Amino acid sequence: MAPFAPLASGILLLLWLTAPSRACTCAPPHPQMAFCSSDLVIRAKFVGTSEVNQTTPYRRYEIKMTKMFKGFSALGDAPDTQFIYTPAMESLCGYLHSSENRSEEFLIAGQLWKGNLHITTCSFVAPWNSLSSAQRQGFTKTYAAGCEECTVFPCSSVPCKLQNDTHCLWTDQLLTGSDKGYQSRYLACLPREPGLCTWQSLRSRTA
Ligand SMILES: *[C@@H]1O[C@H](CO)[C@@H](O)[C@H](O)[C@H]1NC(C)=O
Ligand SMILES: *[C@@H]1O[C@H](CO)[C@@H](O)[C@H](O)[C@H]1NC(C)=O
Ligand SMILES: *[C@@H]1O[C@H](CO)[C@@H](O)[C@H](O)[C@H]1NC(C)=O
Repeated sequence: MAPFAPLASGILLLLWLTAPSRACTCAPPHPQMAFCSSDLVIRAKFVGTSEVNQTTPYRRYEIKMTKMFKGFSALGDAPDTQFIYTPAMESLCGYLHSSENRSEEFLIAGQLWKGNLHITTCSFVAPWNSLSSAQRQGFTKTYAAGCEECTVFPCSSVPCKLQNDTHCLWTDQLLTGSDKGYQSRYLACLPREPGLCTWQSLRSRTA
């Protein structure tokens, strides 16, 4: 086996060297799935500049949280999130914040890791003002109602088939080539009866 060892490590080195040059790719989530799969969903402003600590592979943004939609129990006794972490390199899906407006609010859905909020370019991060009122209502209260039972199932090529009555087929990408289509902006996948979920309009739902 000995002769292969240098070869193997050479390949590993090559992989390691080429990996950072590959672009990060990810499928943007439907906002409901972003809500359901995230530990923490908040509204916050990016204040201050970002920092990369040379001893860690993360970039850190200082934020000011103005509202929390999900994560009360996960955060426990440290409910004030002051920083948000993301891989320092864009090729590792590091999120780059482009707005310099410190009073602009963003919806941020991320994961808790060792007590810190982490996001990547694949996370749902959007200016609060850019969300439709249906999406705001979804994040504020309605998406949660679908988390336990329902799944937004992306349909990216035809034919796509409903595999389960608890799935709602998400066709925005297919029909409009964008993840910001009608189902994303106005609909949520919610239980209609036990074992059955359907797309429902958030606009017609009141209170
Ligand atoms: C960088 O991170 C290390 C480990 O988390 C920490 O001990 C150190 O204080 C940090 N340095 C700065 C300048 O933040
Ligand atoms: C910054 O964001 C706030 C809130 O969204 C907005 O009212 C204001 O016009 C923005 N300022 C600039 C310079 O874009
Ligand atoms: C649909 O999904 C639910 C929950 O994941 C599962 O319990 C059920 O067996 C599935 N039904 C079918 C027909 O696959």
